[in-house]
Amino acid sequence: MCRCSSPPAATARTVAADEVVARCLELARISDEPGRLTRLFGGAGMERANALVGRWMAEAGMAVRVDAARNLVGHLPGADAGAGTLLLGSHLDTVRDAGAFDGPLGVLCAIDCVARLRAEEVTLPFALDVLAFSDEEGVRFGSAYLGSRATAGTLDDALLDAADAGGVTVREALGAARDASRAGESLLGYCEVHIEQGPVLEARNLPVAVVSAIAGATRAEVRFAGRAGHAGTVPMALRRDAACALAELVLGVEAVGRSVDGLVATVGRIEALPGAPNVVPGAALATVDVRHADDAVRSGAVAAIVARAEAIAAERDVTVGWRELLDTAAVAMDPALGGRLARAVAAAGVEPLWLPSGAGHDAVALASLAPVAMLFVRCAGGVSHHPNESVAVADVAVALDVLDRFIRGLAG
Ligand code: GLV
Ligand code: MN
Ligand code: MN
Repeated sequence: MCRCSSPPAATARTVAADEVVARCLELARISDEPGRLTRLFGGAGMERANALVGRWMAEAGMAVRVDAARNLVGHLPGADAGAGTLLLGSHLDTVRDAGAFDGPLGVLCAIDCVARLRAEEVTLPFALDVLAFSDEEGVRFGSAYLGSRATAGTLDDALLDAADAGGVTVREALGAARDASRAGESLLGYCEVHIEQGPVLEARNLPVAVVSAIAGATRAEVRFAGRAGHAGTVPMALRRDAACALAELVLGVEAVGRSVDGLVATVGRIEALPGAPNVVPGAALATVDVRHADDAVRSGAVAAIVARAEAIAAERDVTVGWRELLDTAAVAMDPALGGRLARAVAAAGVEPLWLPSGAGHDAVALASLAPVAMLFVRCAGGVSHHPNESVAVADVAVALDVLDRFIRGLAG
């Protein structure tokens, strides 16, 4: 007969995973918009999310602060002040009409691991910081990694000068006290749990995988300018319709994306101006997002898209402008830290599969600050950036087990 007062480890892990999933779903009700999940940098939703997650961090025993880039930081001291800090976490901002798990899962798994250590009265030699980044998706300013780049100390003028739809720049939104850099600190590494956002784990029937590398990405805004006019009176032959130029480019971007194996190219936002049914558009703009694991392939694709835009502009007697908002090289995960994570996966009884990531993650920005590693968790149908995102509690339980083993393994 079992005389244990606490439940067996596997059951305890399932209870914890259940709570992590429930918390992700609770957070998903905090939004800037009614009826769908959208949480952008500096929005009311982010403030409420930080308050809730900050409460969970405090309940897990951490000292909580919000840094100058509005990242939420939970700190658990270690026994040895000279032993450095291990960073864990992910982001709390979302895309528009998002799912509940892209970002929050990594933050809440990290908090659960801290809670477990505290509950078991385990003191690590090193400190643990759980980072909940304020902006990874980059929806508000069209860029990406604002929170994690501030942490890495790599905010540059291009990012600081990026403006939101209302003309507010990152510089203005952050204000004078924007130095959140942790460069120069003794950091052991950064480890992020994240949903896979793709279908491979499901196809392989595996709950988790270790990330090998993250594809490079370019984001840009393209803007055609023609001549606005009356929709009822300007003959078709005399128009300089910027929206038609943009429409041609949208299909051009798709064609470039289809031209190379592994390349993806997306127009995610389009706008015709001034935006009235009876006005020929005088301007039209769109975002272009291009990704590939090989940076040379990505650069070639971007050059082809720019050339296509210029050719369309010349044919249609309109002008075109191209403004790059993001250009991140492909980033390999740290082999030593990734190896530790792979060993933790094996110790949890799961085949350690290594997977590249087509999606971007805060680990891209933090790679210049510290060794980085990532654990992917299977998500249903590989669906992400969509309200139907979902994860199985059993898979989250495996991720918690792996992260716990990884953290304790670092303690020696
Ligand atoms: C983040 O989700 C990205 O890959 O754009
Ligand atoms: Mn995302
Ligand atoms: Mn994400």
